[in-house]
Amino acid sequence: MYVLGIETSCDETGVAIYHSEKGIISDLLYSQVKMHSDYGGVVPELASRDHVRRLVPLIKGCLKKADLGSVDIGGVAYTAGPGLMGALLVGATTARSLAWTWKVPAIAVHHLEGHLLAPMLENNPPEFPFIALLVSGGHTLLIHVKAIGDYIILGESLDDAAGEAFDKTAKMLGLGYPGGPKVSALAEFGKPRFKFPLPMTNRPGLDFSFSGLKTFTMNTLNSTDKTEEDKADIAYAFQSATADTITIKCRRALQQTGLKRLVIAGGVSANKQIRTKLHEMTIKEKVKLYFPRLEYCTDNGAMIAYAGCQRLLAGQHQSLEIFAKPRWPIDQLIKL
Ligand code: KG4
Ligand code: ZN
Repeated sequence: MYVLGIETSCDETGVAIYHSEKGIISDLLYSQVKMHSDYGGVVPELASRDHVRRLVPLIKGCLKKADLGSVDIGGVAYTAGPGLMGALLVGATTARSLAWTWKVPAIAVHHLEGHLLAPMLENNPPEFPFIALLVSGGHTLLIHVKAIGDYIILGESLDDAAGEAFDKTAKMLGLGYPGGPKVSALAEFGKPRFKFPLPMTNRPGLDFSFSGLKTFTMNTLNSTDKTEEDKADIAYAFQSATADTITIKCRRALQQTGLKRLVIAGGVSANKQIRTKLHEMTIKEKVKLYFPRLEYCTDNGAMIAYAGCQRLLAGQHQSLEIFAKPRWPIDQLIKL
């Protein structure tokens, strides 16, 4: 079965076609980064309007690239949440309308389920159960994944998400939006000069907190002359502290559950230092580490088409109503 996947939850319009046996057939993405960068962050209304402009041409492009017609599509999957309401509604209404016109089922996909299943699109996908670390712009979650839809949240951020902390640090350092890749690039020139705290690691538990780290970064920056060298050393210290904190919590989750597979997903999982530190830890712990290819770490249509296809194959589908949920806890999903 060919499934069309649509992602419009934030600032990327992603469309892909996934086939239940052949895998990803075509995949297109339009990033709004350039448009939002003038404002230093995502402007929700501009995001929605741009999804309206981009979505249909991307759908047509994806069908053309796959050499398929609408009659070949067996289902339409779309991100129904969490995300920006206006942006979600563009994907939801388009997907629901297409599915109705094409007389195929539509399926609402949870954006974070898409992220955590993205490694399933790689050559050696993880088997269930596993621990998933989801680190994106809006979420930081440690999840015990028993099966698709069977998620136990072990820990989460009590304040800023990891990606948000990267984005705010970038702003402080005058790097602009989106911050993660920019902080990471600057950190390459940094030296281990400052020692930043590792929030919530010296007490038990699997929750995260990144807002203190943000304040520490600001105070450190203000104590320097703010030269390029100072900024690079601060970017290095911030990234190291974030990577170390994440690694400590992942190790703790693996030890507590006894699970031997760790999946990392979401935009921040593209970070090289975080990947390296997690890789070193998992070798020591004799745990297998899985992550998506770089373009599937950040938002994309492929992960939505995959997750939607699994749910459609299990017989689930949406009613004719337009379903979009800006807030949607991942542990409330239907188990497959
Ligand atoms: O998953 P994603 O594309 O969108 C959300 O669902 O939020 O994640 C976006 C987040 C942004 O905060 C961005 O700064 C961060 O991922 N990010 C990174 C890197 N690439 C993207 N953070 C650190 N290092 C990176 N290389
Ligand atoms: Zn995302």
